[in-house]
Amino acid sequence: MGKKGRRLLCLCLLAAVLGGVAWKTHDAAQKPLQIGVSIYLDTDTFVEKIISGMEEAAHAYEEETGRKIVLNISAANGSQRLQNEQVKRFMAFGCDAVCVNLVDRTSASSIIDIVLQEDPSVPVIFFNREPVPEDIMRGERIYYVGSDAKQTAVLQGRSVAASLRRRPEMDKDGDGVLQYVMLEGEMGHQDTIMRSEYSVETIEEAGILLKKLDSGTADWERGRARMLMEQWLAAYGSEIELVLCNNDDMALGALDALDAAGVSAAVFGVDATDVGMEALSAGRLWGTVDCNGKAQGRAVFRLAACIAAEGRVPGDVMLQKERYVRVPLYNRMSAK
Ligand code: BGC
Repeated sequence: MGKKGRRLLCLCLLAAVLGGVAWKTHDAAQKPLQIGVSIYLDTDTFVEKIISGMEEAAHAYEEETGRKIVLNISAANGSQRLQNEQVKRFMAFGCDAVCVNLVDRTSASSIIDIVLQEDPSVPVIFFNREPVPEDIMRGERIYYVGSDAKQTAVLQGRSVAASLRRRPEMDKDGDGVLQYVMLEGEMGHQDTIMRSEYSVETIEEAGILLKKLDSGTADWERGRARMLMEQWLAAYGSEIELVLCNNDDMALGALDALDAAGVSAAVFGVDATDVGMEALSAGRLWGTVDCNGKAQGRAVFRLAACIAAEGRVPGDVMLQKERYVRVPLYNRMSAK
């Protein structure tokens, strides 16, 4: 083959190689980004809000980048074994990122093992149910998105103190002491532990005297909260002046029972779910803490998608201690 022929052959080979590369890049850009999401239950109002934040952010990402997003959302029905199976399935299926709302927050390690064994480059974003820091630090691409549990409690406590200043009739019998009951979330959940302790501490630090009549767990649920509240109403009646609730759904359950019994008491929640905000606007709920569920969902999605597709943490997600996203929190108080 002459010089000319060889040059032509080289050019053809180069064109073929470049064409191949171009075709491959195009293919990768067109391939939908698959994100596996496992939630502990599909009936939790606040987790639902986080998921809707993720869906909105996924839609915005598709519009911005033209890349299709597939969110594979599975509910683990309260079973850690089932959640592990779901994550195995995500990995076998070739998901680009995995987002996990743990059933049991002490079981993060089993999820991390599954992902690291299969493909350590896949980002894992835990949200709402916080693993211990040792678990988060087990891999390069492990993150947590949630709210600062202690801060939610401090805000709830401040809201109670501010309400008492504005509405002294909250102390119904005028004895200078607020008789209260507390509805707690699921045992062992970081938010239950911190909210139960620091809301009371903050109220007392504001110089308010408290007397605990009773407390118990209603596992974050409205129906169970109503039942507990009915028992307390039977035992203490209108002696109850304040109902501190670890979340809005339980606050609504307490209000259901109070309304049915015709007893009034100041009820405070946490979350600012849509139903919680409706009760606040109607003046039934005295206060709640806005935990910005949609912003949490947006951060979960943006971390998962940008790390999986572009290998970088997105500029609009602020990290603390390199691996944590804590969304800003706000107090919401009834105008009444
Ligand atoms: C929320 C609760 C929710 C729980 C689920 C908490 O942060 O306040 O409403 O049920 O998370 O893990």
